[in-house]
Amino acid sequence: MCAAESESRWLTRAHGALSRVRFAAEAQTFGCVERVADGVARISGLADVALDETVRFASGATGYVRTLDADFANVVLLDGAAGVGAGERVERTGAVLHVPVGADLLGRVIDPLGRPLDRGEPLDDGGRRTWLPVERPAPAIIERAAVSEPLETGVLIVDSLFAVGRGQRELIIGDRATGKTALAVDAIVNQRASDVICVYVAVGQRATAVQRVIEAVRTRGAPHRCIFVVAPSSASPGMQWIAPFAGFSVAEYFRDRGQHALVVIDDLSKHAATHRELALLTGDPPGREAYPGDIFYLHARLLERAARLSPELGGGSLTALPIAETDAGNLSAYIPTNLISITDGQLVMDAALFAANQRPAVNVGLSVSRVGGKAQPKALREVAGRLRIDYAQFLELEMFARFGGLTDARVSAQIARGERIRALLAQPRFSPLGAAEQIALLGALADGEFDALPANAVAHVRERLAQRGAQTPRDAPYNEASQSIAALREQVREGIAGIAGSAGSTGGAGGSGSTDGAGGTGGAGGAGGTGSTGGTGGTGGTGGTGSTGGTGNTGSTTPDKGTP
Ligand SMILES: Nc1ncnc2c1ncn2[C@@H]1O[C@H](COP(=O)(O)OP(=O)(O)OP(=O)(O)O)[C@@H](O)[C@H]1O
Ligand SMILES: [Mg+2]
Repeated sequence: MCAAESESRWLTRAHGALSRVRFAAEAQTFGCVERVADGVARISGLADVALDETVRFASGATGYVRTLDADFANVVLLDGAAGVGAGERVERTGAVLHVPVGADLLGRVIDPLGRPLDRGEPLDDGGRRTWLPVERPAPAIIERAAVSEPLETGVLIVDSLFAVGRGQRELIIGDRATGKTALAVDAIVNQRASDVICVYVAVGQRATAVQRVIEAVRTRGAPHRCIFVVAPSSASPGMQWIAPFAGFSVAEYFRDRGQHALVVIDDLSKHAATHRELALLTGDPPGREAYPGDIFYLHARLLERAARLSPELGGGSLTALPIAETDAGNLSAYIPTNLISITDGQLVMDAALFAANQRPAVNVGLSVSRVGGKAQPKALREVAGRLRIDYAQFLELEMFARFGGLTDARVSAQIARGERIRALLAQPRFSPLGAAEQIALLGALADGEFDALPANAVAHVRERLAQRGAQTPRDAPYNEASQSIAALREQVREGIAGIAGSAGSTGGAGGSGSTDGAGGTGGAGGAGGTGSTGGTGGTGGTGGTGSTGGTGNTGSTTPDKGTP
């Protein structure tokens, strides 16, 4: 009885609802391709189409609306450009450009539209998946928190002198083949010891270069916490254009859930060139260096999305390491100046340093990190405090020493220390150092313990520590109160004593034997070591003459400085 009653009530309601439905014809407009060239199609007839909306061509190709005119829309083709011809029918999709996001993207290689490039499962799962638009607003000031936690790159010169904080934007800029990608990949690889999720975006790179990056991360890093968004140089300009935006959206999914993400964009110079190409094709007026005026706004609105969110929003962070290429070291070109002013600092890679085998070839004078210092662990900040000024003074003195005549003991000591700083800051790829190891090494340097060694032996001590770091899992975040630094300092001391001892027993190893004619400044390094660190009683170096004509005139002063 009761059931029948409720059934009839339902039926009455359903009848009522049906009677209110108005059936009417709905017009669907179709556009028509007027002309197509260079990855851009001009469409007429789609009067109600919106900016950034995706459209579908009869041939199956897709594109998005880049500019709107009174009578036509310029559509940038994303794929299938070859099949599109004049007169072809085009329909709206009603959706803006979007990309699939989610935790199941981890470990995957995708194109900027979220289609797999790694022969894995497709990511579209029939309506249940989360999609995010590729263009999203940056967090407002009120939604942000100050950068307060370090993002460890494992690269000593970066972490000590130009520390990067979580939520920061640090530009890596330099000429071709100066190790820009290598530095960013080192930062990604080092996240195997952290909770940071990495997104590597390749824009306009050669497929082989991208493959090398993916291989490096797969073999050395934590690939299950990395996502690769790839638009190689062979991809259409449209795909290359949306790649950085898509990469940010993919990373923002994690940021907005209270996690920490790192985005590397390799590189924004190619992105700028693609933007210029599309802008000129769609009739934007060219500005400085033929880039349209909105190029600054383009990259600013992209990089503004990197942020540290406030605790109320989960406290997640998105750090950006955009890469830019310079031409013959010209930092004052249009795109480099734009990017330098948008970001919170830059790591300038120097072709001359790279050629001189100083790697990573970071130019200490031109590089800066404007916010990272606040996030640096206190102990590291303390030991790194004098490093920059000591190193800068050394570089200047070294130049003068080339002309000869700088022979007083204080200058020689500064030069000897500087050589050891330089040797310590050089670091091969894939040998990251944790914060504790860095503090131990820099502490030993500040205390003059390395003065006992020839400069070229410093690397051995660092390598030993890096290997030790690789064996010890660093799952827990770095803790300043930890006892491990004292233990590491002890290891450094043992390493130095071991090397100094063996150098001493062979008669001082001839110091660092300057190869650039700067004088045999490290000539007596071996001698100092044996005396001061309780080594095996070497007989003292002979103030080795520089191998290419150094005078060795500072040799005799070095043993004094060996005392810790
Ligand atoms: N710290 C390092 N130690 C040893 N070799 C390095 C180091 N950094 C970079 N290299 C080497 O330098 C070469 C160039 O590096 P990389 O490809 O990263 O430069 P790039 O600036 O990204 O070049 P491109 O302009 O072509 O993108 C590579 O062969 C790389 O292995
Ligand atoms: Mg590169």
